[in-house]
Amino acid sequence: MKTLDMQPSRRQFIQQLGLGAAWLGLATNAPLVLANSTHTLPFRQNAAPLLLHWNENSLGMSPNALSAAKYAIENCGNRYPDASVDEFKLKLADHHNVKPEQLVFGNGSTEVLQAIATYAAQNNATMVEPSPTFGDLNGYCKSENLKVIQVPVEQNFEMNIAALKKQAMAQTGSVLINICNPNNPTGNIVDFTTLFDWINNAPETHLFLLDEAYFDYAQANARYKSGLALINQGKDNVVITRTFSKVHGMAGMRMGYGIATVNTANKIKPFAAGFNLSAAALAAASAALDDKPFYKKSIEYNQLSKTILVDTLNELELAHIPSDTNFVLHEIGTPLADYAKHMQQNGVRVGRKMTLDDRWNRISLGTPDEMKIFAQTLKAFRQEGWV
Ligand SMILES: Cc1ncc(COP(=O)(O)O)c(C=O)c1O
Repeated sequence: MKTLDMQPSRRQFIQQLGLGAAWLGLATNAPLVLANSTHTLPFRQNAAPLLLHWNENSLGMSPNALSAAKYAIENCGNRYPDASVDEFKLKLADHHNVKPEQLVFGNGSTEVLQAIATYAAQNNATMVEPSPTFGDLNGYCKSENLKVIQVPVEQNFEMNIAALKKQAMAQTGSVLINICNPNNPTGNIVDFTTLFDWINNAPETHLFLLDEAYFDYAQANARYKSGLALINQGKDNVVITRTFSKVHGMAGMRMGYGIATVNTANKIKPFAAGFNLSAAALAAASAALDDKPFYKKSIEYNQLSKTILVDTLNELELAHIPSDTNFVLHEIGTPLADYAKHMQQNGVRVGRKMTLDDRWNRISLGTPDEMKIFAQTLKAFRQEGWV
């Protein structure tokens, strides 16, 4: 059986690399191709870098969101955006058909995860989660000295719900259960009937955090349902988190939020940073919600890119986990460090180690054009014996 490791959080990752401020330049603009390197394929010499390592949205944000952000900076950059927060809260509540009081905002959804961890610490909760999964909540819980229990995913990379449930039930006192659905870095979902059955029959002391950062990509799957359905039924032991970083292409703007019943939201809010949203992010998010064609295009492009990638992986007989997200975990058949080095020499940034199996990589889905370049690169790698 493959055993798997926790995905390091982005924060830990940056700290580990010791990149600090330099990371900003490296992650975006720095030329990644080592010109004249013997490991650079002819067609990738001096090529523009492809950033396929952080599950961002290469499409960028909606042009309307960009104009709104520019307008906000030019006209309100010197003013505190209180009124905009109130206005946006009403709009987002309306969008989800919930009460404004049910929303908890974050400067990115990771900030909401931090608030939930701090709230859980007041009850000295134990945190239970699958492994691998998105690592930020784990980091926040450890900072709060909470006990964290990780349950390896199954051999087919599905979450082991029975084992997670067993661990949760074995704890005394409060338990925080972290279910990233769809999961990162595996990209797969938890069947909603299994998940809802667990939540519906769990003790009141068990709070379920359903991290739905990739919700928008999973909606088309009939086996997927957002935890919002449970919150709408009045379940106090569920909180979901969502973000504008993925489908809306606003990772750099930092806008995320949680939704829970009023009762649960009121318990979490005291631990959330107040006054944490910028005028630009509020304006962009508001325009993004209105730009339905961009939203549709973003999902369609992601699907197109996934098809290009999956076709290539199949052609090269490299296994992958079926994904309902904007990334795919797939086999590379060689040590990840070598693969990542060769990719970097060819102007492609790929993931870091996500699983205990060193011969798998998580690749973010760029635009269809980017994925065509990636597919060509991967095929050339096969010729070189690098995959
Ligand atoms: C599962 C998951 N949750 C949350 C986040 C972070 O989202 P945000 O940019 O809203 O902080 C990510 C980012 O990669 C993620 O994969």
